[in-house]
Amino acid sequence: MTSFSFSTVPHVRVGAGLARTLGDECLKLGVSRPLLVTDNGLVSLGLIAPVAQAIAEQCASLTVFDGVTADPSESVVEAAYAVARESDVDGVIAVGGGSSMDVAKVVSVLMKGERLLVDMYGVDQVPPGRLPLVLVPTTAGTGSEVTPVAVITTGATTKAGVSSAVLLPDVAILDAELTLGLPASATAMTGIDAMVHAIEAYTSKLKKNPISDMFALRALRLLSHNINRVLTQPADLAAREAMLLGSMFAGQAFANAPVAAVHALAYPLGGHYHIPHGLSNSLMLPSVLAFNAPAVQQEYGELAAELPGNVAQSAAGLMTWCSALIAASGLPATLEAAGVAANDLPMLAADAMLQQRLLVNNPVEVTEASALKLYEKAWSG
Ligand SMILES: NC(=O)c1ccc[n+]([C@@H]2O[C@H](COP(=O)([O-])OP(=O)(O)OC[C@H]3O[C@@H](n4cnc5c(N)ncnc54)[C@H](O)[C@@H]3O)[C@@H](O)[C@H]2O)c1
Ligand SMILES: [Fe+2]
Repeated sequence: MTSFSFSTVPHVRVGAGLARTLGDECLKLGVSRPLLVTDNGLVSLGLIAPVAQAIAEQCASLTVFDGVTADPSESVVEAAYAVARESDVDGVIAVGGGSSMDVAKVVSVLMKGERLLVDMYGVDQVPPGRLPLVLVPTTAGTGSEVTPVAVITTGATTKAGVSSAVLLPDVAILDAELTLGLPASATAMTGIDAMVHAIEAYTSKLKKNPISDMFALRALRLLSHNINRVLTQPADLAAREAMLLGSMFAGQAFANAPVAAVHALAYPLGGHYHIPHGLSNSLMLPSVLAFNAPAVQQEYGELAAELPGNVAQSAAGLMTWCSALIAASGLPATLEAAGVAANDLPMLAADAMLQQRLLVNNPVEVTEASALKLYEKAWSG
């Protein structure tokens, strides 16, 4: 067997209502002045107040930063960092989607001082040391609670990743109660994002390994067996918990066997059109699956074996099931339907070439010409 390594968070806690024990978590980590990073949509929904109260009861002070926006920019990170410095916080907690968790990760490192965000982009550019960090996802999801990655929007349209084991939190807490109110479209998008993590990790070219494989297969099983349930019965706590578990497993898979062309081609759609991360992945998935299939017939068949129903255990089975899910989810199924202009496709293909960190993991080489063909196929469907 080729040698490999696998890293993950030291503590994962799973259970309904666990977010209300975040005060205990602070005590265990020796944190008395935490920063809670979230977005104001979650505050308006009433999700944050009970959590904040539980933290405040056990800590000397609590500072809340609720200015996270989707696909957070460097200015959002700077704003959160300024608030953290002003309050002299000694720990960072995120309660939110990937956007809040990614901001929290970076702020926990910046608070150690003497390092700039611009110097941390890329792989292993983060010096050791950060404040204690606890991540609580409210989407299922990015898996960011168990990945060493933070994705930040740089400039107007480009996304860049900070990837370092330093960003793995001390504790990840999965509390499905927080996800009960996630609207159907967000549930579908984030659920498909998690499935793409599992699929891309399982066919990752350079770092595919037996532990990631195990997580990827189990993730796809949990996610595919529960996504229709959470779309039709959003208050089903057991199904919501299965989705959170599935997205966390997928996160562990791609944290160690990174994602590839679906994500690389999705990022420019987020940058230029502000299409949400999960939807942009969903839009690119069918064309990239078809493009990769000749090289990974066996792996796609193994993934198809995890799907519910009578799915053929083949690449065709996987592709047919994914396309049917996208059609049934109510999400736009083509770039045209998502509002992408046909004459922008060459610019998107050029932009996707910047994502070499991800493209090197694809089982089939993606050139600018093939990226353009993939966008054209995704545009017309
Ligand atoms: N770090 C990683 O490993 C990693 C992996 C994949 C994606 N990402 C990044 O994560 C971000 C996307 O994260 P996301 O898809 O979780 O969404 P998000 O954090 O951007 O949130 C999207 C919207 O959903 C709302 N929302 C979140 N949870 C909710 C809930 N329980 N109920 C109601 N509304 C809720 C938020 O208020 C927000 O308006 C992108 O920036 C993406 O690039 C990071
Ligand atoms: Fe993703």
